[in-house]
Parts: sequence; C-alpha cells; structure tokens
Amino acid sequence: MTDLEELAAEALAAIERSGDEMSLETLRVHYLGRKGLLTAHLKNLGSLPAEQRPAAGQKINLAKSRLREAIETRRQTLERESLDARLQAEKIDVTLPGRRRAGGGLHPVTITLDRITRIFRAAGYEVAEGPEIEDEYHNFEALNIPLNHPARAMHDTFYVEPGTVLRTHTSPVQVHVMEQGEPPFRMICPGRVYRCDSDLTHTPMFHQVEGLLVDLEVSMSDMKGAIVSFLRAFFEEELEVRFRPSYFPFTEPSAEVDMSCVSCGGKGCRICGRTGWLEVMGCGLVHPRVLEMSKVDTNVYNGFAFGLGVERLAMLRYQVGDLRMYFENDVRFLRQFN
Ligand code: DAH
Repeated sequence: MTDLEELAAEALAAIERSGDEMSLETLRVHYLGRKGLLTAHLKNLGSLPAEQRPAAGQKINLAKSRLREAIETRRQTLERESLDARLQAEKIDVTLPGRRRAGGGLHPVTITLDRITRIFRAAGYEVAEGPEIEDEYHNFEALNIPLNHPARAMHDTFYVEPGTVLRTHTSPVQVHVMEQGEPPFRMICPGRVYRCDSDLTHTPMFHQVEGLLVDLEVSMSDMKGAIVSFLRAFFEEELEVRFRPSYFPFTEPSAEVDMSCVSCGGKGCRICGRTGWLEVMGCGLVHPRVLEMSKVDTNVYNGFAFGLGVERLAMLRYQVGDLRMYFENDVRFLRQFN
C-alpha cells in the first residue's frame, strides 16, 4: 500500500507540472486508463487475503478519484491560462488614436471661386452657367463685338470650327440668361475661359466670374456700391477702390476697377508696380444694343455688368504672385490651402 501512496504522490506531482492539455491526457491514460498503473493495482486486489480487500479497494478508489480531480483542476487552470494569454495577445487599446486617411483638399482657385460665389449669393445674386464651347454670336456679336471689330483681335480666340469658339470670356452667359428669362436679372457666372495666349502671366485656360444686374433705374452708383462691397468682403479689408474710365464694347460707360494694393496698403511696392493700385476687374452699364439684341426692353430696363479674373484675385488674396503655381498642381503648394 505504501507503493500505492508513492504512485499517487508521483502522479499528483506530474499532473501539477504538466504544461498543456495533451500531456495531461497522456498522464490520465498512464495512471487511470484501462492499462494504467492504478488500474493495475485494482486488478491485483484478487491476490490479497479476502479481509484486506475492501480496505485496499477503498484506498485505490480514493486515490483514483483524487487523481481524477487533480487532472480536472489542472485542466481548468491550463484552460484559463491559455485564455488569459490569448486575451493578452489580442488586446486592443481602444484609446489609441485612429489611423486617419489623408484627406484631399480643394484647389485654391476652387476655394476662391466658392468664396466669390458665396459673397454674391448673400447679396441676392443667382449663379448661372453657360457652355465653354460657344458660337461666335454669343461670344462676340451679341456683346456688340461685330466681325472685324478690333476687340476680336485682342481676344486670341481658339476656334473649334468656323463659327464655333472656346469662349474667350464669361460675358456670353449674360446673353444666354437674358435670352432665356425675363428681367429683372441679378446673376453671376463663374467658369473657365480660353485664350490662345501663354506666358508668365497668361495661361490658355483661366477662370472668370461675370456679373449682370438688370432692373429699373440702375445707376453707376449702384454698380460702384456692389463692386466696392464685394471687394471689401472678399479681402476682409476696408480697401480704397477707384473707377477709371475705360472701354468695353458691351458696356457704356465702361470702367476699370482699381483697389488699393493689398501688399503695401497704397504706398507703392513691387506687387502694384509702385503705383499703390491694383487693377482687379472691368465693369460698366450694359450697352443698350446688348440689351436690345437679347430682347430686353430698354425703355424700361437698364443694368450693369462686370467681369473679373479668378486667378488674379487668388494671387492677390494669397499673396502668391506666380500664376504658374496655380496650374502646376505641386502638392506641396496645394497642401498649404487645406
Ligand atoms: N469680358 C471682359 C474680359 O474678358 C471682362 C468684362 C469687362 C466683363 C467689363 C464685363 C464688363 O461684364 O462689364 O476682358
């Protein structure tokens, strides 16, 4: 019987040492299986004197159930340990910051267009669009620029085919708006325009915003008020603005708009060519012939129009004086506008 106790002690120690469920199962078979060491003891009972058998049998069964319990306990411990290890390994720190996707951004010209549009919308102007491939009538004739008019030469026009051009300005959209609707009109037209011209300060494609207001008794001072308010809102500065007499075929009288230099405040610097003034747009009262051609009754209505270059305003607002930057699309440049 001391033999049995030693065996049981040895088995318990082995169970305690076993490191995984497989070796635990091997131990179970080794001691408790059909051919196991403890089972062998039971089989030997028969060789004992009859009066010793019950006590011996009890001891063996007790040892067996202690081992079974020990195995079960060990199994549970191992299970818990491996679960803990897995949880530890797969732990997720939900407080770590997420991996952000690098977001795209809007191009500075788009930002500028949006800004111009927002300011005019707030003043009650609607946004109109027209085709970039335009017929000569809308691009020229309807704007009082007849064939052989010297202004045509100034426009460096791309011809798509005879009679059809890439629009050289957004002014033809005025004509579409007037043809399609009834006055009063109060609209802006942002869009791309094309000119066969390419150097340091000109690109073959650029953006303009056209403005048109047609109503009863529109005056030059209405126009000046609209333009000065726009420029001050756009540059967020109490700029000085002046209107210089000029000429456009589609307006009479016509003016060019200068504003005090955003860089030097009017003292004179490199940006404004030492004049203290920056030329920013053209404008005027819509020529009666332009209104008539688009079937607006000039006995009742008149109006003003203006046209500005978007890249030019972007360059002045961001103080980036090189036009090429806006077209090269170097991400190091573009990122700065996010
Ligand atoms: N269309 C002119 C251009 O591209 C800009 C312009 C000037 C538009 C005066 C106007 C205006 O509506 O009144 O150079």
